[in-house]
Formats: sequence, C-alpha cells, structure tokens
Amino acid sequence: MNAIFNIRPKRLAADPSMRKGIVLAGGTGSRLFPMTHSVSKQLIPVYDKPMIYYPLTALMLAGIREILVISTPYDLPGFRHLLEDGSQWGLEILYAEQPKPEGLAQAFLIGEKFIDGKPVCLVLGDNLFYGNELAASLCAAASRMEGATIFGYHTKAPEQYGVVEFDSDGGVVSIEEKPAHPKSNYAIPGIYFFDDTVVERAKKLKPSARGELEISDLNRVYLERGELKVEILGRGTTWLDTGTPDSLADATQFVQVIQQRQGLKIACPEELAFVQGRIDREKLNESVVKYDGTPYGDYLKSL
Ligand code: TTP
Repeated sequence: MNAIFNIRPKRLAADPSMRKGIVLAGGTGSRLFPMTHSVSKQLIPVYDKPMIYYPLTALMLAGIREILVISTPYDLPGFRHLLEDGSQWGLEILYAEQPKPEGLAQAFLIGEKFIDGKPVCLVLGDNLFYGNELAASLCAAASRMEGATIFGYHTKAPEQYGVVEFDSDGGVVSIEEKPAHPKSNYAIPGIYFFDDTVVERAKKLKPSARGELEISDLNRVYLERGELKVEILGRGTTWLDTGTPDSLADATQFVQVIQQRQGLKIACPEELAFVQGRIDREKLNESVVKYDGTPYGDYLKSL
C-alpha cells in the first residue's frame, strides 16, 4: 500500500489544468522488426500491459489531465481503440498523426493547436519510469512554469541517447545527441517539461544531418539562454526504454519481478486514476466489468 499512499499528496502539488501532455508513439520501431512490422511498438506488451500505459501513467503521476497521443496514420486507430477518450481514467485524450518520423521536436509543431500556448510535457511512448521518488520529481518539474526541465540518468551506454555534461558545480555544460564519445554517463530520459514558449522555439529548429527535428537542439536553445534545469534521477529510480528485443525483454522481466513480489501493478491507469481521485468507485467499477473474468479485472476488483 505504501506505493499508493506515496503518490496521493504529490499530485495535488501540480496544477493539472495548466500543463498539457504529449505521448509520442510513432516511429518505425525498426530495431524490433518483424515484431513491429504490422503492430505499433507502443501497443505491444511490456509484461501484462500495452507499452503506452507506462509513459501515459508517468504523465498522470505528473498531475497532467489533457493528453495528445501522436502516432502514424497507420497505427493511430489502434491507439484510439485502446485508450478511447481517456474519461475511463479521468483524462482527456486526443489524437494526432505524424505522417513520417521527422523527429521528437516535431511533436510541438503537430501539437501546436492542442498545446494552445500552455506549458507541456513530452514523453516518449517507449519509455518506462518507476521508483519511489518519481512522482515527486515529476510533480516538481510539472509545477515549474518557466524554462525547461529535463532529467539526467546514469547509464552504462549513454551514447545511445542525448547526453548531458556537467561542470564541477553541477552546472550543465553541453548536450549532445547520440555522441560517439560521450562526455559523461548521464543520458537524458524521454520525458521533457517545457514552458509556454516551446512551440515558437521548435518552429525555429532546422532538421539535423539525419533529417530530424532534434529534441537535443531544442534543449540546447533553453540551455544557451540559461533556462534549462537538469534534474538527476537517482539510482532509486528506474528508467528503461524498450526499443530493442533485449531492452524489451529486460523491461518485461523487470515489471514481472516487481509485480509478482509486491502484488501491486506498475502503470495501471485505472488504479492510479482511482487513487489520485480522478475517478470515483462507480467509474472504476465500469473497468472491473469490462475486464470481468480476467486477471486484470480481478486486480481492479481488489482495489
Ligand atoms: P526511436 O526509438 O528513436 O525510433 P523508433 O521507435 O522509430 O525505433 P527504431 O530506431 O528501432 O526504428 O524513437 C523513440 C520514441 O519516439 C519511440 O517511442 C518512437 C517515437 N518517435 C516518434 O513518434 N516520431 C519520431 O519522429 C521519432 C524519431 C520517434
């Protein structure tokens, strides 16, 4: 039960009506081919839930209510079918197409109307976050209305990600996207909080050599103006991505081990919505009925 009580007061610290959330769930998923040939990567399971439940509940932990799911025209119907309008979880979920994977920062151009001049949090549809201090870190970032907040996470292989370099006082010196020779072990996880100027800044970005609007370039714009905060996610927090068969298997195993030990689910949107007071018992019961006779339904009933 501790995990549940830990998240209750922290959500209230953020103003959910202020910040918008975007889950970027397009891409090609080519490292998972042929698994992702006909099914979106973010719809395939991580243990017992569709992958997108994990980043979606990260936005919920940050206190966000209005969420835009961006995916390919081919995959979007699957997301609509799964997530519906979000009201079953006390959310408002909207959808938008990204015809081609032209970069993470393109999310802010596609989502301009949805963002509507508000601060926004972008989360990647294949990232999984878990840990005791996570809700506090996300809520703190969500309640900061000025500038950008991103995270640094110590990893063995930072060269696969954006990498942040610090000086001896902990100040941020540089941000590099997938550097061949990383200047630190701190990778930037796929969750980013931006203020209400993000769309206008994203519009000024130029595609990189690989033809993408890079999130690292956007972060650098904030860095150069002294408006970027990089918070360290400590070793008590787990950040996994699920882009390769091995990392997907690791994430699946991770969720399985924790859930079987605790008897509590990671990233169960119905549970989180109920505990956070986004839905009442009657609404929760609708999901119990929907999943009646399944292990997931039994879990919801046990709440
Ligand atoms: P990646 O893992 O970098 O790309 P991918 O998912 O297409 O996979 P692969 O490299 O194996 O082909 O993307 C990270 C996340 O961002 C993932 O959830 C997909 C998403 N994404 C988009 O939705 N649109 C984009 O333009 C890009 C670059 C990524």
